[in-house]
Parts: sequence; structure tokens; C-alpha cells
Amino acid sequence: MERSVRSVDRAAKWTREQIQERVRGLGRWFHNIDLGGVKTAPDHFLGDYPAFKWKSFAHAIPADLTGKTVLDIGCNAGFYSLEMKRRGAARVLGIDSDDDYLAQARFAAEVSGADIEFRNVSVYDVGSLGERFDLVLFMGVLYHLRHPLLALDLLHEHVVGQTLVFQSMQRGSAEVTPLQEDYPFSEKRIFDEVGYPRLHFVEHSYSHDPTNWWVPNRACAEAMLRSAGFEIVNHPEPEVYICRRREKADGAPGAVYPGRRAGMKGEQA
Ligand SMILES: C[S@@+](CC[C@H](N)C(=O)[O-])C[C@H]1O[C@@H](n2cnc3c(N)ncnc32)[C@H](O)[C@@H]1O
Repeated sequence: MERSVRSVDRAAKWTREQIQERVRGLGRWFHNIDLGGVKTAPDHFLGDYPAFKWKSFAHAIPADLTGKTVLDIGCNAGFYSLEMKRRGAARVLGIDSDDDYLAQARFAAEVSGADIEFRNVSVYDVGSLGERFDLVLFMGVLYHLRHPLLALDLLHEHVVGQTLVFQSMQRGSAEVTPLQEDYPFSEKRIFDEVGYPRLHFVEHSYSHDPTNWWVPNRACAEAMLRSAGFEIVNHPEPEVYICRRREKADGAPGAVYPGRRAGMKGEQA
């Protein structure tokens, strides 16, 4: 059951003018959030973002999160953290590597009367949290990372208890070519298939944003999730995947090179 996170006391603390002034003072917002009638990013280049994105997959996440713990990685101004709290999550932790966005998130939560913790922790440091969460959101971050597969491996190893909600920008074909387990060295044609997993490297900038580093096509996003130990259980919209954490089998080779090599047999090893 969805519920309001607004507490009358806290909301009453802020006049519309005060909210307007603080929103302006907190810099440029990427999340358009309605704070007591004040929109934080009304001119977002993607439209009413991320509200329109949320509408397309909100049904794929349990409506009642009572008692659940949630980690929102790359939380930005906390739009999704607020939505998770609205669904009754017992604990929501939002982490981001940008203090300006975290300040926006803290203000948005305060005005909304939502008890959410926000901390400056990079996705590469999730091990320092020392805790697994029932639900982990990893939305819109992968393509901003120089080491995207490492990040997914770390999520699997340290923080995802049960469910991962993943979103990435995708470019290239949405086709997925069925692949064999292995190919001989002489096989070259397969790499030219449009549906072969492809991670496009951005050396300089994409969409005027130099923090975009790697953009997968659909086949690649799905293969990376599987490779990091996440089973895709739902794909409610083209960029969003709901995944279940798979336990790695005892003795299964690790994801990194030496681990994989150890899994090879005989002279090939
Ligand atoms: C495109 S925004 C996505 C925000 C939100 N998750 C969403 O889907 O609307 C990317 C966010 O990831 C954050 N970010 C980038 N690199 C990060 C890192 N290494 N660790 C944690 N957050 C990071 C950015 O500061 C930014 O807030």
C-alpha cells in the first residue's frame, strides 16, 4: 500500500517561498521533484524526469516494502529513495559520490518528512557499508563508470541481498544474438553480429557529458548482469531490469581473470 511520507509538522516548517529559495541555492537539479508545489528541475532536457521513467516500471517493484531495507546507489537528489520510503521501506540508504546532489537529497527528504539516510560513498566502496540490503537500486550509474563490470561484481559480493533494480542507457541494436558457450579462434564473423554484446567506449564526451564512459547495447547490458551473478527476472521497460541475486556455486571460478583461468582445464589453463 502506497503511503505519504509527508509529516504535517515538517511540511509546515517550510513556506513555498523558502522552499523556492533553497531549491535555487542548491544548484542545478537533475531530479525533478515536487517539493510542496515547487518543481526542482522543471526544464529537464528529458522532460519530467525521472517521474516518467518511474511510471514505466513502478509496477514491477513490490507496492508494499514494509520491513525491507533499500540501498539507492547513485541516488542523486533522492527521487527513487523517496519513492521507496513511500512504499514503507523500514530503512533507505542513498549513496552518491557527489556532495552537491546529496545536499539536494537531504533537503528533499527533509521537506517531504522522510527519514532517509544519505551518505557520500562511491559504488566502488560499497564493501565499506558492511551490510546487505533486500533491494538495491543501481539506476543510471553504470555508463558513468570507468569500471562498470567491477561495480556489478562489487554489488554482488557486498550489498545485494535479494533483488537488484538496474537501469542503463543503451545504444546500438536492441537485438540479442543467441551465442554458443565457446567459439574457435578462427571464428570472426560472430563479432560483427548486431546482437553481439557490445560496450561502446566514449573517449571524450557523449551528450555534452564527459562522465559518460561506456554505453552497452541491450545484449551487453543483459550479459554483464548475468556474468556478475544476477538472474534477470523481469524487464518492464527497455532500459530497466529486475534481477535476483544468484549464489555462485561452490568452487565456481570467480569473475576476475585469475579466477576464470583457474577454471580452465589442462593445457589451456
Ligand atoms: C544519471 S544520474 C542517475 C541518478 C538516479 N539514480 C536516477 O536514475 O535518476 C547518475 C548519478 O550517479 C552518481 N555517480 C556517478 N559516479 C558514481 C560513483 N562512482 N559512485 C556513486 N555514485 C556515482 C552521480 O553523482 C549521479 O548522481
